[in-house]
Amino acid sequence: MKKQYEELMSAAKSAAKNAYAPYSRFQVGSAVLTKAGKIFIGANVENASFSLTNCAERAALQNAVSNGAKNITAIAVWTKSGGVFPCGACRQVILELAPNADILINNKTGDSKIFKPSKLLASGFSKEDLKK
Ligand code: THU
Repeated sequence: MKKQYEELMSAAKSAAKNAYAPYSRFQVGSAVLTKAGKIFIGANVENASFSLTNCAERAALQNAVSNGAKNITAIAVWTKSGGVFPCGACRQVILELAPNADILINNKTGDSKIFKPSKLLASGFSKEDLKK
């Protein structure tokens, strides 16, 4: 794993400490990397009205876009257990905002695995479909 990706995963791990997860107690941290080398973090934020919960990945992406980030090249996902993949909603948002990014998933051995958005969401709905 290249050094930049190790740093990205470490930012995702730190972000997990900020998770607001009083209901699931399941803390997730995420971090987005841009071509310019900037990192934007996110954590899951739950709500007593459960369906309003926001995942760490979407929080990180929204944080990046809100701060003017362009060209997202990677997104890291960290959980204590490792091996947790983005949910379906997050896959859709990743496909929209970071279609070519590397998605890094941590695992117990400390070695992350990399996946592509198109692999995690095959035949996903995109802006191209709106032209049909
Ligand atoms: N969660 C994430 O933040 N990202 C994922 O990839 C999976 C699920 C959060 C949502 C909720 O706060 C908790 O994990 C349990 O579903």
